[in-house]
Amino acid sequence: MAWTTLAPAAALDLKFPEWLLFVVTHDGAGHYDLMPAGWAMQCSLDPPMLAVALHAQRYSLAQIRATGEFGLAFAGLGQHELITWSGTRSGREVDKFAAYPIRHSPGSATGVPLIDGCALAFECRLASELPAGDHVIVTGHIAAAHRAEPPVSKLVNFGGWYAPAVAAPDDVC
Ligand SMILES: Cc1cc2nc3c(=O)[nH]c(=O)nc-3n(C[C@H](O)[C@H](O)[C@H](O)COP(=O)(O)O)c2cc1C
Repeated sequence: MAWTTLAPAAALDLKFPEWLLFVVTHDGAGHYDLMPAGWAMQCSLDPPMLAVALHAQRYSLAQIRATGEFGLAFAGLGQHELITWSGTRSGREVDKFAAYPIRHSPGSATGVPLIDGCALAFECRLASELPAGDHVIVTGHIAAAHRAEPPVSKLVNFGGWYAPAVAAPDDVC
């Protein structure tokens, strides 16, 4: 087998598909923010924990540090416009929940709201931070987890365009 050697950035452009999640935060005084994030993962089984890499300048990171709480919610089919909109402006400049019709309901364990249209939502309590280049990896204990009813298909990022995560029966291996 032959290999073509690429610059790291060029190779990383080819890493898709990637999950699409929303990082959902609050400031402790009833104001919410959310941003899409692709760099999220489960990082512990027992206790159950999730992690997400946030750029050091993200307003979402400041909110997490202020309250010690954050939500990670898998984006659902139909949320592509909210992904693009909320991923191209900061909660530092715009109150995203006031400027965009984001329907939501209260979480059960934290002050983080559950976003209508997401497939799966986790409420997390901040556990640790790990500096990673220009990002900070934030880990959190899962305090509560919720699945949309009726179930919603998760969205996958193919690198600028999004599609539902559905397996074609003939392609399953
Ligand atoms: C599809 C997509 C995935 C993204 N993934 C991440 C990510 O994993 N980490 C991150 O820090 N920013 C990521 N961003 C950028 C943030 O969502 C964006 O900068 C957002 O405006 C930050 O909002 P905030 O300042 O209100 O926190 C992503 C953006 C898009 C559109």
